[in-house]
Amino acid sequence: MAKIVVTGGLGYIGSHTVVELVNAGYDPIIIDDLSNSQAGILDQLTKIIGFKPTFYQFDLCDEKKLKEFTEKESDIEGIIHFAAFKAVGESVQKPLKYYHNNLLSLTNLLSAYSGKDISFVFSSSCTVYGQPDVLPVDENAPVKPAQSPYGNTKQIAEEILKDAIASGDAKKVIALRYFNPVGAHETALIGELPIGVPQNLVPFITQTAIGKRNKITVFGDDYNTKDGSCVRDYIHVVDLAKAHVAALKLMESNYFAGYDVFNLGTGNGNTVLEIIIAFENATGVKLNYEIGPRRSGDVEQVWGDVTKSAKELNWKAELGIDTMMASAWAWEQYLSKNPL
Ligand code: WQD
Repeated sequence: MAKIVVTGGLGYIGSHTVVELVNAGYDPIIIDDLSNSQAGILDQLTKIIGFKPTFYQFDLCDEKKLKEFTEKESDIEGIIHFAAFKAVGESVQKPLKYYHNNLLSLTNLLSAYSGKDISFVFSSSCTVYGQPDVLPVDENAPVKPAQSPYGNTKQIAEEILKDAIASGDAKKVIALRYFNPVGAHETALIGELPIGVPQNLVPFITQTAIGKRNKITVFGDDYNTKDGSCVRDYIHVVDLAKAHVAALKLMESNYFAGYDVFNLGTGNGNTVLEIIIAFENATGVKLNYEIGPRRSGDVEQVWGDVTKSAKELNWKAELGIDTMMASAWAWEQYLSKNPL
């Protein structure tokens, strides 16, 4: 079975991707420094896939540890690089922490595998588009000045990857631009595990529904949208995970070489208020929310043109908003009875 390194493999998207890699017959090798994930996810993954995946705990910024890893695991065929800090707000407060971690981990990885004919999948983000001029936004849209150091690290990382292809350090790279990943695995054994107060909308919704938070604040209802609240393209994390397998398959095909980038969204936009209603309808749980001031750094509306992903990545999202909300709720209920 082809060995695929999954950095950040105990994180939210990483863990769901480990499951889909096993389902597709790959052998995932997890690297995670547990700075933004929990070791308990390894046991949860074991329950889902039926065996304990190979796991190495170290920081990719530690070149010595990474060298030891590459000597131990020498027959790697691909890398899926999730490991990065991703809190937009925190990146504004601590930009150097974000530039150091997110960029050094990438350049260390590329150096460690320089010249090797392996597939490299990079976890990018729709944040690189900023507020697009045209919606839905496609992969040829101009990358706009980042709205946060987090978004900037994703833009810079994409440039580093293109330069690595040009120099021959990297041979095959696909950058996947995520829209808004939400939801949880159908077993409710893995899902989003925000540390502290959730920054993102859906975990805040589920924690309010379970009683951990008093109410949700909708950050602004005076935007130029159908109900005044911001629009995003919410995509089920399992659909997102399957796209990483599709990216590996594309790079295994003989005609792929060099660098490419794909949007991972549903192609539909929903407002914050629509998500709140969708959650209530999917779960029967009434949510307590209020309208508050806008959150700085928020773009008004963004959703993806996913034509290229359907045509060239041979992938499209299949799970709807109801399943996203119901699975996120099932996971929150599981967590309340089985704290990790
Ligand atoms: C969604 C909408 C908020 C919380 C970020 C990253 C992006 C990606 C996904 C990594 C916005 C509103 C939120 C709340 C609210 N991360 N909201 N009340 O900011 O679109 O994207 O996470 O890949 O790169 O930028 O996601 O879930 O924080 O916000 O009204 O308590 O919900 O204003 O309109 P965001 P989000």
